[in-house]
Amino acid sequence: MSRIVLGVGGGVAAYKSALLLRAFTEGGHDVRVVPTAGALRFVGAATFEALSGSPVTSDVWDDVPEVAHVRIGREAELVVVAPATADLLARAATGRADDLLTATLLTATCPVVFVPAMHTEMWLHPATQDNVATLRRRGAVVLPPAVGRLTGPDSGPGRLPEPADIAALARVVLAHGTRALAPDLAGRRVVISAGGTREPLDPVRYLGNRSSGRQGWALARVAAARGADVVLVAAGVDAPAPFGVRVVPVGTAEELRAAMLAEAAGDDRPADAVVMAAAVADFRPGTPSATKLKKGSAAEPTSVPLVRNPDVLAELVTKRAPGQLVVGFAAETGDDEGDVLAHARAKLARKGCDLLVVNDVSAGQVFGAEENAVVVLAADGTVTEVPRTGKDAVAAHVWDAVVPRLSTPRPD
Ligand code: CTP
Repeated sequence: MSRIVLGVGGGVAAYKSALLLRAFTEGGHDVRVVPTAGALRFVGAATFEALSGSPVTSDVWDDVPEVAHVRIGREAELVVVAPATADLLARAATGRADDLLTATLLTATCPVVFVPAMHTEMWLHPATQDNVATLRRRGAVVLPPAVGRLTGPDSGPGRLPEPADIAALARVVLAHGTRALAPDLAGRRVVISAGGTREPLDPVRYLGNRSSGRQGWALARVAAARGADVVLVAAGVDAPAPFGVRVVPVGTAEELRAAMLAEAAGDDRPADAVVMAAAVADFRPGTPSATKLKKGSAAEPTSVPLVRNPDVLAELVTKRAPGQLVVGFAAETGDDEGDVLAHARAKLARKGCDLLVVNDVSAGQVFGAEENAVVVLAADGTVTEVPRTGKDAVAAHVWDAVVPRLSTPRPD
């Protein structure tokens, strides 16, 4: 349990901060909400007080003997400002202390995460971009806004990411500090596969697997938070797009193959990194029935002949664009022929990818679990162990391994 300060700026997206507060308290955290006066015009103090169980004020003149701004700032282990409006970013960047939130930001020594939300023009304005650069230079995380529907009929970058995404990213910063969300994928294009393929037996049945897609979703969310333009090729998972990334839904291994090859090549420019986190079926029913298989019918099946699916990862490696980094995943167990690392090294060499993220599944399966422990193997021989941690934190470690190996200059 950590002490989190939730700063709320005066934008329409302030309504989502109540859900974020709820996500934090349900995660067992002790939350103090510090809204601006503008935020309290959108959401009443009573909502924040009831959900946080603590008093709420925006004014340094309340509770003077307690010197609230100093105590709240000093005690915080994480400050999350969501939504961070253009005005709030400007006041924070210039070191103003004209309300309880900005004063608290000056006394906090813990990690600070700003989650901007505003109209696209305000976000792209050089004044706002300069303020964002200043705050980042001083060590704060400033998340890029999600792309999507804004307050009116317009859409573009400026949307507050969904509270569940912000809460997941806040957990990574609590565990690993602000470095985990460095904006080092800005200007990069990454393509990630996630979930598990479904191979039809007939129009209503399929052969599938138990991949939940959570690790792939986390990879997409963290890459977007680090500034990347992300495409998520999602097999058999129908969850909301993380952080507003573009999701390409697919079903079978063949569909996944076509989508991954097209997205890796790109229309305008190839992806900088391609990550195969999906569990791809190695086999599919050779002749799926066009009509539903009925029990008792003459066509009642007694066995299912299988044919081999293409190895998408191997094909992505052979067809990759110059400088494109390819990352594979592998679930391994040790056996008589070698331990987990020996099998993983052999697979890395066989597949020819640059990085292999290895799950040791000897002690039980990881499908659907909240946490994961992995080893990241690099073709250059580097081995990075990531002890059991949340899947978003695992994702941050994977991107940490990817970023220094991206060789092509970043297009500006
Ligand atoms: N993969 C793929 N196409 C397949 C099968 C797997 O692209 N038809 C990718 C997965 O997305 C993952 C990696 O390859 O990134 C896993 O390698 P794979 O050889 O499938 O692992 P296992 O199924 O564990 O292989 P084996 O049974 O040979 O150990």
